[in-house]
Order: sequence, then C-alpha cells, then structure tokens
Amino acid sequence: MVTRKSRQEIDQMRRAGRIVAEVLALVESELEPGVSTGYLDRVAEKYIRSQGAVPSFKGYHGYPASLCISIDDEVVHGIPGERIIREGQLVSIDAGAIYQGWHGDGARTFVVGGVRPDVTELVETTRVALMAGIAAAVPGARIGDIGAAVEGAATRNGARFGIVRQYVGHGIGTAMHEEPQVPNFGLPNRGMQLVPGICLAIEPMLTLGSHEVETRPDGWTVVTRDGSLAAHFEHTIAVTERGPEILTTV
Ligand code: MF3
Ligand code: CO
Repeated sequence: MVTRKSRQEIDQMRRAGRIVAEVLALVESELEPGVSTGYLDRVAEKYIRSQGAVPSFKGYHGYPASLCISIDDEVVHGIPGERIIREGQLVSIDAGAIYQGWHGDGARTFVVGGVRPDVTELVETTRVALMAGIAAAVPGARIGDIGAAVEGAATRNGARFGIVRQYVGHGIGTAMHEEPQVPNFGLPNRGMQLVPGICLAIEPMLTLGSHEVETRPDGWTVVTRDGSLAAHFEHTIAVTERGPEILTTV
C-alpha cells in the first residue's frame, strides 16, 4: 500500500528531515583524518536526541548504531566503530531520524582531503544523479521516470559508473521503509504513477566499477564485489502539486 501524506503530515516530515540534514552537516564539520567512525556516531546520536528525535537506524533489525558510515569500497550500511578516518578516503554517511512519529532519511558521500579526479567525478555524478531523480518526481510522472533520470545522469557523456541494483530507494513516512520501491535504473513511463502526497527516499549508489555488491560477514556492510569505490546520496522528498520538495534540508 502506498500512502499519501497531507500537507500537515509533510510539514511534520520536514521537521524530521531538517534534523537529518543538520546531523549530516554536523558530522561533516567533525569529519577529519584521525577521528573514529564511532565518535561521529556518538556526535550524531547526541544531536538527534537533543532535538527530541530518535535515531531510526538504532535497533532496526538489530542494527547497532545511529549512522551508517561506509568507507571506500563499502557502499552502504557500514557500522561505526573504532576505525579511524584517514586522508584520501571516501566516506558515505547515512542518517535517519524519527520526530513525532515521522521519518527522515538522508545520506551524502564526503571526500577526506585530496582524491583522484575520477573519484571526485564519481561523487559529483552521484549527487547530480540524485538531483535528476528528484527533478523527475513530479505529479503525473511514474516511478520509472525517477530511475530513468538517475540512470541517465549516471551514464551521461559516455560515463560508465556502476549503478547498484540490489538496493533501491523507498517510500517513507511513519515507517522508514514503505512502498513503493524506487530503483535507480529503469524505463520512463513505467511503474506507479506519482501523485501529490507521495513521499520517497531517493538514493542512488554508484561505483567506479561493476554494479555488483555483496554483504560482509558482519551481516550489514555492503561492499562492491570488485573492490571499486562507491558513492551514495539520499534525500527524502515529497511529491506536491508544485513539484518535488526536498524534506531533508535545513
Ligand atoms: N538509510 C538506509 C536506507 O535508506 C537504512 C539504513 S539500514 C539500518 O534504507 F539498518 F541502518 F537502519
Ligand atoms: Co533510505
């Protein structure tokens, strides 16, 4: 079942989304060589709770932390711990918060210090692909239009980034994961039609190599099979009469 949120409910979701955006900005300000991923997680959890919100990831199917921090070839769901951030790493940070029962979910990939130009391009293309997907989420369009827009941005000018297929975006509202699924690939004019009130988390994951991923023995960390670097950007958005509105923003 796909639920449509009222204007008031979307305003509630925007509050959760703002907290997520603030968490990501705060963690970005703390991100430097020498800090541990566990430290960043503690900073995030403290901030989320200080806002009267709850970290949505903590305890989700037993997940032990408030953030997912995925480094280099890790795509998503990396577990924060004692690991130290190093110069030259690609750090993807995913945050989720529940505020008064409503969810926000967002992610960004950061580069720590200098990286090769192809890595910068991977990150920038993933960010642009997310924005292209969001721009396609207008009333009357279909879920397939979002995937086609993401795929189009990821393959523009002959670019050959891997587009992760095994994980997709999702509906979001009073649960973190609602219907429908939102693939980052596909054909225009296919799938469910978008109407005002539909709220989605759109989250392209691109790699410098193949699209294939696997899960590490920890049961969570998703890595590229070929060891290539990966980037991940995510926003929670609402489809409205006036077009898509990003909710995970300050
Ligand atoms: N933000 C992720 C998503 O978009 C969920 C994190 S998985 C968790 O689906 F276990 F950490 F919660
Ligand atoms: Co998500």
